[in-house]
Amino acid sequence: MFFSLTEEQLAVKEAAREFAQNELKPGVIERDRDMIYPTDQVRQMGELGFMGMMVSPEYGGSGMDTISYVLAMEEISKIDNSCSVIMSVNNSLVCWGLEEFGTEDQKQKYLTKLATGEWIGAFCLSEPEAGSDATSQRTTAVDMGDHYLLNGTKNWITNGGTSKIHLVIAQTDPEKGHKGINAFIVETDWDGVAIGAKEDKLGIRSSDTHTIMYSDVKVPKANRIGEDGFGFKFAMKVLSGGRIGIAAQALGIAGGSYELATAYSLEREAFGKPISKHQAIAFKLADMATDIEAAKMLVYRAAWLKDQHMDYAAASAMAKVYASEVAMKHSVEAVQVHGGYGFVKEYHVERLMRDAKITQIYEGTSEVQRIVISRNLLKGNLYIPISKGVAEHA
Ligand code: CAA
Repeated sequence: MFFSLTEEQLAVKEAAREFAQNELKPGVIERDRDMIYPTDQVRQMGELGFMGMMVSPEYGGSGMDTISYVLAMEEISKIDNSCSVIMSVNNSLVCWGLEEFGTEDQKQKYLTKLATGEWIGAFCLSEPEAGSDATSQRTTAVDMGDHYLLNGTKNWITNGGTSKIHLVIAQTDPEKGHKGINAFIVETDWDGVAIGAKEDKLGIRSSDTHTIMYSDVKVPKANRIGEDGFGFKFAMKVLSGGRIGIAAQALGIAGGSYELATAYSLEREAFGKPISKHQAIAFKLADMATDIEAAKMLVYRAAWLKDQHMDYAAASAMAKVYASEVAMKHSVEAVQVHGGYGFVKEYHVERLMRDAKITQIYEGTSEVQRIVISRNLLKGNLYIPISKGVAEHA
């Protein structure tokens, strides 16, 4: 069992940290306050290879492993979670899904542009009445022979207004339940695609979240992903990897909160000494560090399992549910360590606290993660031999 990173992984982590501290930190408070989309910063992320990190170089990607992706997500999320969610959706939901399940033509036409960040992609699954219950899709795609006719509404779509490509999940045969669902590549400048107003959110405020309406959009047959009826499994498989990205984001929020709380507590004095020397604060820092290390083990292990092509659905759900709870708990604690300063927008901790909440909601709520974990447990479908043994005895 190894707990060390390779030279390459350390170099990625360092590059992401430098980029986040030097390029993302200046202006992050204003972008968040005014909901300004980080256009220049996203372009820079593309130039640095962060928008298609796991895509093979053949399609314009960086050809890196999932651990490197997690390390970059973590460092960027310590500073700017609007940038990291844009990056996460493009990398793990859109690019990975296309490389894994797309046709060669789809990869040449779309993936090559998405992997470099020239185009940004969005993943359109959630609907006004289908969030956690993802099989209840109301969006329909009717087979018209050489094309599908797409109609419906999607909600809370990250990259909704800025993306060139949507991966849209839609019902093609309601009789067949989840086997009657398909996934399609839709270009956002096609007739019938309408983008609603940008959502005014609690956190990740400069990311671009919209409602999308599709009205009689003609989608060529060649733009369906996989075999007929593969759409729901496509969404589930893509989300299993996506949850590793969001878990890494949560880890970054917790890590950023810890770094800020530690730095502040070393400088701020009360009762004649730095507050870090008061046990009340020192113990908070100790608890933060311990929980972050525990979350790290789950997140890195889920990434490692994915890189080994082993089953990682339960591992990514565990990583997300735990890391997001650690992010929520310790971003609140970091505000507490800062006292009154933590409550004003000039300091970065209050933004991290607001950003933390969404990691317990998107790409499957914490409750959905527990469904995924418990179903896998009951099937004995875990990768740790001792857990398998326990499940077999039960
Ligand atoms: N990999 C492959 N197949 C999978 C799978 C996985 N990880 N998970 C489930 N499946 C398969 C099942 O095996 C089953 O197939 P069979 O019938 O052939 O056996 C099929 O999919 C249906 O599975 P379930 O019966 O488990 O489906 P369910 O209706 O009970 O739902 C659920 C399960 C886990 C709750 C699922 O609906 C779910 O994940 N919901 C949450 C959706 C979600 O995460 N939304 C986030 C929106 S995207 C987003 O937030 C992006 C963003 O912008 C940031």
